[in-house]
Amino acid sequence: MCSGADFWHLKGVERLGIPSVMVTDGPHGLRKQAEAADHLGINESEKAVCFPAGCATASSFDRNILKKLGETIGQECQAMGISTILGPAINIKRSPLCGRNFEYYSEDPYAASELAASMIQGVQSKNVGTSVKHFLANNQEKRRMTSSSDVDERTLREIYLTAFEGAVKEGKPWTVMNSYNRINGKYVGESKEYLTDILRNEWGFDGCAVSDWGAVNDRVESLKAGLDLEMPSSGGMNDALIVEAVKDGTLDESVVDTACERIIDIIFRYAENRDPDAKLDLREDHETAAAIEEECIVLLKNDDNILPLSKEKKVAFIGKYAESPRYQGGGSSHINSWKVESALEAVKEIAEALLAEAVKTAQEADAAVIFAGLPDNFESEGYDRKHLNMPDCQNTLIEKVAEVQKNVIVVLHNGSPVLMPWKDKVKGIVEAYLGGQAVGRAVVNILYGNVNPSGRLPETFPARLEDTPCYLTYGKGGDHAVYQEGVFVGYRYYTSVDREVLFPFGYGLSYTEFTYSGLKLDKEKMTDQDTLTVTVKVKNTGGRRGKEVVQLYVSPFTGETIRPAVELRGFDKIELEPGEEKEVSFTLDKRAFAYWKEEIHDWYVESGEYQIRIGKNAQDMVLCVPVQVQGTREIPKVYSLNSCLGPLMRDPKAQAVMGAFMGNMSQNTEADEVQKQQELQAENPDAAVSSEMMTAMMEDMPLRQLISFVPGVTREMLQQLIDALNAQKK
Ligand code: BGC
Repeated sequence: MCSGADFWHLKGVERLGIPSVMVTDGPHGLRKQAEAADHLGINESEKAVCFPAGCATASSFDRNILKKLGETIGQECQAMGISTILGPAINIKRSPLCGRNFEYYSEDPYAASELAASMIQGVQSKNVGTSVKHFLANNQEKRRMTSSSDVDERTLREIYLTAFEGAVKEGKPWTVMNSYNRINGKYVGESKEYLTDILRNEWGFDGCAVSDWGAVNDRVESLKAGLDLEMPSSGGMNDALIVEAVKDGTLDESVVDTACERIIDIIFRYAENRDPDAKLDLREDHETAAAIEEECIVLLKNDDNILPLSKEKKVAFIGKYAESPRYQGGGSSHINSWKVESALEAVKEIAEALLAEAVKTAQEADAAVIFAGLPDNFESEGYDRKHLNMPDCQNTLIEKVAEVQKNVIVVLHNGSPVLMPWKDKVKGIVEAYLGGQAVGRAVVNILYGNVNPSGRLPETFPARLEDTPCYLTYGKGGDHAVYQEGVFVGYRYYTSVDREVLFPFGYGLSYTEFTYSGLKLDKEKMTDQDTLTVTVKVKNTGGRRGKEVVQLYVSPFTGETIRPAVELRGFDKIELEPGEEKEVSFTLDKRAFAYWKEEIHDWYVESGEYQIRIGKNAQDMVLCVPVQVQGTREIPKVYSLNSCLGPLMRDPKAQAVMGAFMGNMSQNTEADEVQKQQELQAENPDAAVSSEMMTAMMEDMPLRQLISFVPGVTREMLQQLIDALNAQKK
């Protein structure tokens, strides 16, 4: 049972009444292949609805939208006899170059995990399983099957594991798919630490761990680590190795039993809950795909309120994607779409007679809408991008049209950020991402104002590739992907170094205006065991109904550990009528303030002042209030001859012992010297050795140096001091 029956089926056992069930890709529609199966999206699958890809749905920042998407896909699975959909895919967008970013959600782990949990809940509410993937640190396509993601423990915890943690804890996926890559040299599929210790024991995952297709390296080791199901199969070879290992005693039979139990459990969760009435309604689901995309589109620029367009005006729709939009990415997620609705088709009712003429002569129109973006071969599963440019011909087209037409709007169809050398020459920019088969309708509804745009970027659009935090190492390390930027991924980096970007994380405009006020906390001081309730008022001060994504960031207290300038800790999407005001409430707990402390292998809150911020996006904070947070976990300090005087003198528990020691020292101590210098400097501010210099030197001076600089201090005296300090700690 521990491997697939074929490309898409789990093994059944007729004799025992265990059915063989089918799984399919995922994540944004069904890729149900009958024959000629493959995992690269090469051979055709049955017609299905292609919903907006992860890049788009994440920009809705709307848990309900993801839930709705999940429910619809779950319903389709029931109708088509699919037990589990292979998604959502939630790897962190470490670099905008990753070829598969179009499937993934965000550069922010909180956003990714929250949205994934909703999608999972939606699908599973229909008694169909999900497979959250690709666990773990699979952030590039280059050498994805052999490369090792070399990441430190803190970064894994704060960024890469966090994305999956929320999805698993809140979403409770039936299955988790392990990625192809290694982490710090070890295949994820053979890592007990990730597959069992963290996933099951820490997070409570009770489903079945599945390999990515062909990701098994050593089957026996992977089984021991907690990888229950190998997909698709190895033609029986690996199964034979399992049998052999049990026979020769190197594998405990109970490990195989446990894996089988988990697989059978997944089979029956579906088989016992088939919905006999489930029907595939492609027409209705096409409507849902359009409605979802309308919530995802991000308005990036709207100078002179060029949008929404007036139906009375002559508008030229230009560019290949006006007629045949790029609405999905390549690879295993590729859907054989039942229907594709283009913007030209959708706009026909509004401007048909003028259309042919308008496309030919942009300058004769009142405005020109250019449909541009990335072609299929620019971004796909299997390889990464080399640059952030759109094809030259598209950039030229935009520049040329902008020369003859002052009202240019660019609609982008792309799965990941692009550079926009023409940004200042156009008045409007609409980011449609890869918006699914009904993208054309959604775009037209946004352009003409039937829908007020409400998407926000779930990733930063950098100004230059060279500015990206992992630029120096991304895709360059052969079989080693070195995550040298640590936790400074995406906006965590740009905000920390105050780097200008093209469009920041969380950015997006609306046809109305929102004003924030009254940011309040239910307490000014708290411990890390308390929860903090944050409320803020948001008012629609414009003239149209619209939706706002309220974003809460925390600026961590920067004590002894370097931390990002801001981190997203809450978001909510609300709808407001003109003039209407609503209060939005967030609850923050320890994790909103904590970082992962490697020394104790746990989350840790440093005591100090934190800032609670409400932002229009990661670079535009509109309100801020401080809160004092007291960390409750004490980490005993162990002092040695190499402990420096500065931190020692600041440790309140060490002060009494240090005071006594200093008092006993001979007259001419460094401390006396500092004081002497301070007095001297007060008289002579230009003195060569200033008191600041003396203080700085003392700050970083290890205890052992006192032997050299303070007459009379001996090693024995210092050892007694250290013993006294360490005894104090206990
Ligand atoms: C992809 C997975 C996909 C699987 C099955 C793999 O190559 O990485 O995301 O689910 O194939 O098609």
